[in-house]
Amino acid sequence: MRVLPSGKTSTVERIVTLDGDLDAAVAGQAVTLTFADEIDCSRGDVIALADNPPEVSDQFEATLVWMDDAAMHVGRSYWLKLGTQTVSATVQQPKYTIQVNTLEHLAAKTLDLNAIGVAELATDRPLVFEPYADSRTLGGFILIDKLTNATVAAGMLHFSLRRAQNVHWQALDVTREAHAALKHQKPAVLWFTGLSGSGKSTIANLVEKKLHAFGHHTFLLDGDNVRHGLNKDLGFTEADRIENIRRVGEVAKLMTDAGLIVLTAFISPFRAERDMVRAMLPPGEFVEVFVDTPLEVAEARDVKGLYRKARAGDLKNFTGIDSPYEVPHMPELRIDTTREAGEAAAERIVDYILGKRGDMWMPTI
Ligand code: ADX
Repeated sequence: MRVLPSGKTSTVERIVTLDGDLDAAVAGQAVTLTFADEIDCSRGDVIALADNPPEVSDQFEATLVWMDDAAMHVGRSYWLKLGTQTVSATVQQPKYTIQVNTLEHLAAKTLDLNAIGVAELATDRPLVFEPYADSRTLGGFILIDKLTNATVAAGMLHFSLRRAQNVHWQALDVTREAHAALKHQKPAVLWFTGLSGSGKSTIANLVEKKLHAFGHHTFLLDGDNVRHGLNKDLGFTEADRIENIRRVGEVAKLMTDAGLIVLTAFISPFRAERDMVRAMLPPGEFVEVFVDTPLEVAEARDVKGLYRKARAGDLKNFTGIDSPYEVPHMPELRIDTTREAGEAAAERIVDYILGKRGDMWMPTI
C-alpha cells in the first residue's frame, strides 16, 4: 500500500479494534491500522493500493457551484475541504460560466449566487484526489469562507494542471536564517494599513530612516510606487486589490527570506488578504500597524486631491467613499494620527520591534 501525499509505501500489518484484530475492514468502521514500517500518516492522509494510487496535485481545473450571497472573490484564500483533507485554496477568474437553461458558455469575471462555472484553483498543500467523474469522495469538495465559516461553494475536480507536476520547489543551501544572520537581524514585515492619506507612507518612511540609522537592513514597499512597476497592470476593483496585496505579500516574503526588515504601505482594505500575508510568514514576523485616521481627517487633508475627485464622481471605487475599508481587529500597533505626531508614532513602532525582539535587534553599529 501507499500513503499519500507523501508517496511512502509499506504494508498493513494489523487491523486493530477494541474487540481484537480483523482480517478486513470496510468503509464506516472505526479501526486502527499498524504498518510494517515507520511512516508518518495522520488525519487527511490517504492510504491506497501501491500499484494504483489516486493522484496528488496542488493545481486543478474544477466546476464550481457558487452558493453564497457574496460573489466569489478571485484570488482570495478559502478553506477547501475534500474528504478528510482541509487546505487553503484560491480560485482564478472563471474560464466561463454555464447558462443552465441553454448550457451556453459565457464569459464572467466572478461567480455570483447560484452561478455554475469552470475555473482553475490552487491549493497551498498537495491534495490527494481523483477526478469527480471517477470518485465522488475524492473528487467532490466544498469551499468555506475563512472569516464567516459559511460554505460558499460546492465543486467537482476535473483534472490536475500539468504545470503542477512540472514545477518543483528548489531547495536552497543558503537559508533564510543564514541571510538574516549575516545581517545580524531578525527579518520582519511591518505592514502599514489605513485609508488613502492616513499617513502610512509618511510614518513608514520615518520608521525606515530610524531602523536604517541603527544599522538595520530594510526595504520600503509603497503602494503608489509598486503600482508604477510590478503592479502597473492592476486597478482598484476588488479582484485587483486582492491581487495587489497577494503579490506584495509574496515579494515581502521573499525579502524576509533575504533577511530584510520590510515595511509596506498599502491601503490593503480587506482583512482576508492581510491575514493571508500574516499566514505566509513565520509566527511573529508579521507586524500589522493600523494607521487609524478617520475618513473626515484624511479627506480634509486630501494631499493628492483624490477625495475631491471621488466625491465629484470622477474617480470610482475610492476607498472610504464607494469602496470599503475593513478595520483591523487586532493589529499589533494602532496609530491614532489625530493624537500622535508622526515622529512619536515612528519612535513607538521602532521601540516595539526593537524591544520585542530582544538582542537580535540591538543596533549593530
Ligand atoms: S490597495 O487598496 O490596493 O491596497 P494601494 O495602497 O496599492 O491600494 O494604492 C492606493 C493609492 O492609489 C492611494 O494612496 C491613491 O493615491 C491611489 N488611488 C488611485 N485610485 C484609487 C482608488 N480608487 N482607491 C484608493 N486609492 C486610489
